[in-house]
Amino acid sequence: MKIDALLENMTLAEKLGQLTMTAAGHAVTGPVIAGDSVEALRTGTVGNVLNLIGADHVHSWQRLAVEESRLRIPLLFALDILHGYRTLFPIALAEAGLFDPASWAATARAAAVEAAAEGIALTFAPMLDIARDPRWGRMAEGPGEDPLVGCRMAEAKVRGFQGESLAGSGTLAATAKHFVGYAAVTAGREYAALELSERTLEEVHLPPFAAAVEAGVAAVMPAFTDLAGVPLTAHRRLLHDTLRERLGFDGVLVSDYNAIAELIQHGVAADEGEAAALSLKAGVDIDMMAGAYRRGLPVALQRGLVTMQEIDASVHRVLRLKERLGLFEDPFRRGARPDTAVALEERRRLAREVATRAIVMLTNTRDTLPLDPPPKRLAVLGPLADASAEMRGAWWAAAPAEGQVTLVQGLRDALPAAEIRHAAGVAIEGTETSGIAPALALCDGVDAVVLCLGEAAIMSGEAASRAHLDLPGAQRAFAEAALDRAHARGARVITVLFSGRPLVVPWLTARADAVLAAWFLGSEAGNALADVMTGRRSPSGRTAVTWPRALGQIPIFYAERPSGRPYARDNRYTTRYIDEPNEPLFPFGHGLTYGRFTLAGLRVSPSTPREHDTIEAQVEVANEGARHATETVFLFIRDKVARVTRPQLELKAFGSVTLAPGERKTLTLAVSAGELKYPGPDLEPIFDPGEIEILVGPAADRRCLLAATVRLAAG
Ligand code: BGC
Repeated sequence: MKIDALLENMTLAEKLGQLTMTAAGHAVTGPVIAGDSVEALRTGTVGNVLNLIGADHVHSWQRLAVEESRLRIPLLFALDILHGYRTLFPIALAEAGLFDPASWAATARAAAVEAAAEGIALTFAPMLDIARDPRWGRMAEGPGEDPLVGCRMAEAKVRGFQGESLAGSGTLAATAKHFVGYAAVTAGREYAALELSERTLEEVHLPPFAAAVEAGVAAVMPAFTDLAGVPLTAHRRLLHDTLRERLGFDGVLVSDYNAIAELIQHGVAADEGEAAALSLKAGVDIDMMAGAYRRGLPVALQRGLVTMQEIDASVHRVLRLKERLGLFEDPFRRGARPDTAVALEERRRLAREVATRAIVMLTNTRDTLPLDPPPKRLAVLGPLADASAEMRGAWWAAAPAEGQVTLVQGLRDALPAAEIRHAAGVAIEGTETSGIAPALALCDGVDAVVLCLGEAAIMSGEAASRAHLDLPGAQRAFAEAALDRAHARGARVITVLFSGRPLVVPWLTARADAVLAAWFLGSEAGNALADVMTGRRSPSGRTAVTWPRALGQIPIFYAERPSGRPYARDNRYTTRYIDEPNEPLFPFGHGLTYGRFTLAGLRVSPSTPREHDTIEAQVEVANEGARHATETVFLFIRDKVARVTRPQLELKAFGSVTLAPGERKTLTLAVSAGELKYPGPDLEPIFDPGEIEILVGPAADRRCLLAATVRLAAG
């Protein structure tokens, strides 16, 4: 076949070219290749390119490869398309809060179509790191703290990016990253080494990657980090034995940026030759940006550290991916037809819809929201009220700084008759406070004050660990002054928090009349927020991650294992802090709506399920409020007596229902009993007969869950 014939014909340099991915940079004269020249494309010594934007550029480089290189092997163009390409959707952590796989898939599909229309063929997404430490900025990029959410998101994103066939002109190969455990970096500090038990790896961090593989993900990227003494880039046991052999992954492993060379800094390789050999042997096919395969593998071959067969196996996988992407058939298929204005508009509509549903209403005292009747005068203050670039979140791909809808714009459009006053007051960071007094003056005589506070887009994402999770800079001083002033004048204060992680702001949630978590909502941020604030839509987003009330509670997550000394209020010798409650500020799943939902009548059947049965939980959901709204309902389990200790709550299903005022419906949540297996004492999955509590409700808070019991039966 074609690939074998090609391989036979390739020189070592050409083979290593296929194992090399190099970044495009932008010079005044046009795009350039980092540390190289475009000559490398003609000679076939660079076979894959990241970060090149624009169909013209992509096609002109592709032409060099397929028309001028000896073997005419097409280039693979890759980019980080995490939550959109030009049209930005909410960051993954925000989108996770929809708890809706169909929407997760829809935004990936739309992003793929938009990026493929400019020649991109592979995205470094989805990011599937299960994150329980908000100091780590990359929590923003992924599904949050729960492995089931990670699995469902993995499947949906792979389906969305990759479409029906990888060869389609509107599809992208997806990359599940960062394999595996990266989110557990020590103290939340980016790139730090980490320790994880085998059990936590199996129960929490591996499942989303297994789900991505099951869904047919084309590529996987190992994490930068060292896991208990072995950097993932060189982790043969996890990359080869677990990922390839056990999970059956037969796609391409692409290293993270410069990660192969960094094996030298990690201290497991003395030079490029050793580094290249370690990662090739672990199963890494493509070297992103280290040049270590190009320079190091010839040395490693000479030293007998690797064989030509091992190199060939990787080249084969890369060529096979290019073939599956249809690149040999037509290297110009992607990018052949420019995007249409209609398609763009449709994507904007989707972006607004998803952004609206991603907003989490954290608090809403005395029905401060919605702003109904429409206010006559509003003060919209804070450094994030009119900051287009910040709306994009940490990975903005090709989205320009301008043209993202801010809240000031959104409110002006939604409330054309209202007087909307605006001042930033303070910058996102920094100590300058001279803008505070003039901003406070705008609070006089308004119906409400909207405070837009939080992080800059680049304060989360990669290389954005924070040791303090309060509002940065002078924002707290400004917010406290604005709260004093507005309340003294009888105006309510709505706070909109922009962030890539939960912030530790108990002082703020205690004082503001309503707080919305906006995360980073993307291109339509301001319209989505205005839709919710004016009551055109009810908020329905739920937080996919626990919000701590104090930094010292971190890591914090709902699925903690029990203690032998469970918390008791009047007993000091139980698991607790002496200076802070155990409870989070907001639990996983929290999010208010404009409806008033009650859940009742939980029925679970069958009562003695066997491994191949489906357990169905039915619950009556009623909206006793005065507004249309959507309620998300979670199904947790609790295995009280097991062979190993089990988490106090484990999410097994979720669903939602939209109800008009006064309406009620029965919601059914299903989980196959086989999914209640857990890794036993020797880490082999076991189906463990006995009692299981089924807990159903609106958040991971025992106090608001309905409970029933089933008894798992053997056989
Ligand atoms: C990040 C990856 C990303 C890559 C390419 C790295 O620094 O860790 O997530 O895909 O760069 O941009």
